[in-house]
Amino acid sequence: MAHTSSTREIPQARSVPRHLAIIMDGNGRWAKRRFLPRVAGHRRGVEAVRETTRACIDRGIEYLTLFAFSSENWRRPADEISVLQQLFLAALEQEVDKLHANGVRLKVIGDIAAFGERIAGLVADGEALTAANRRLTLTIAANYGGRWDLIQAIGKMVRHHPEQHADFTEEQLSPFLAMNFAPEPDLFIRTGGEQRISNFLLWQLAYTELYFTTTLWPDFDASALESAIAWFLERERRFGRTSEQLSAAERVAQGSEEGAHKFG
Ligand code: IPE
Ligand code: IPE
Ligand code: MG
Repeated sequence: MAHTSSTREIPQARSVPRHLAIIMDGNGRWAKRRFLPRVAGHRRGVEAVRETTRACIDRGIEYLTLFAFSSENWRRPADEISVLQQLFLAALEQEVDKLHANGVRLKVIGDIAAFGERIAGLVADGEALTAANRRLTLTIAANYGGRWDLIQAIGKMVRHHPEQHADFTEEQLSPFLAMNFAPEPDLFIRTGGEQRISNFLLWQLAYTELYFTTTLWPDFDASALESAIAWFLERERRFGRTSEQLSAAERVAQGSEEGAHKFG
């Protein structure tokens, strides 16, 4: 089933974000403050992934998308890239069974062929094993870039419509985007204090609420998530409408609820 496009229809209001997308930033600084090598920060970062995944399940969040390695992170020193790949490999080997036991569906988006056959094989196996799970969809963005995603999707869309040369629509493009299986994120969190998107989900963040915190990723936990959700619940999501329109729509919804109580 196709998910609602925030620019085509108005998504249903919810009491918790349905889809949370996170830029997990600040591992290096966390380590530096402790006079440890950057790698130590990445290791603690994996712990924060475990804790956040658990907290999202407890909170009833349906989709959690984590930016683990960007298409620009290849610019880092070779030894750091190698450690990040080893951590990803170890996580795939050690965590997939646990995710499965907890009803988590694993998805990986990005050009993962670049990580070699072993990682690509584990990703394919993990995705296949957990494909039917629906408690939480955990998506890891690895060698992912928003621009890469748009370019690959446009290429596929054009090949899919060999007779068409112009006037493509949103509906024609969206099935080819890497996150075609998920609704658009309701809430975006970036830890580490920077206020930028760093080539994450460029298309999908069109109407997402953006939350920036100075908490470094290894320190992120269930209570930090709770603060972000509390902030999210205070936002008025207008999707282009006026505030007055929203309160009128709310009154109508409340009225029909009262009506249901009276007559139901
Ligand atoms: C995020 O932490 C992890 C990755 C980008 C892989 P960083 O490694 O970017 O940490 P800082 O930003 O240098 O502190
Ligand atoms: C964004 O963090 C990418 C990930 C968290 C994987 P970076 O640390 O790479 O972002 P910049 O370079 O500060 O924008
Ligand atoms: Mg960083």
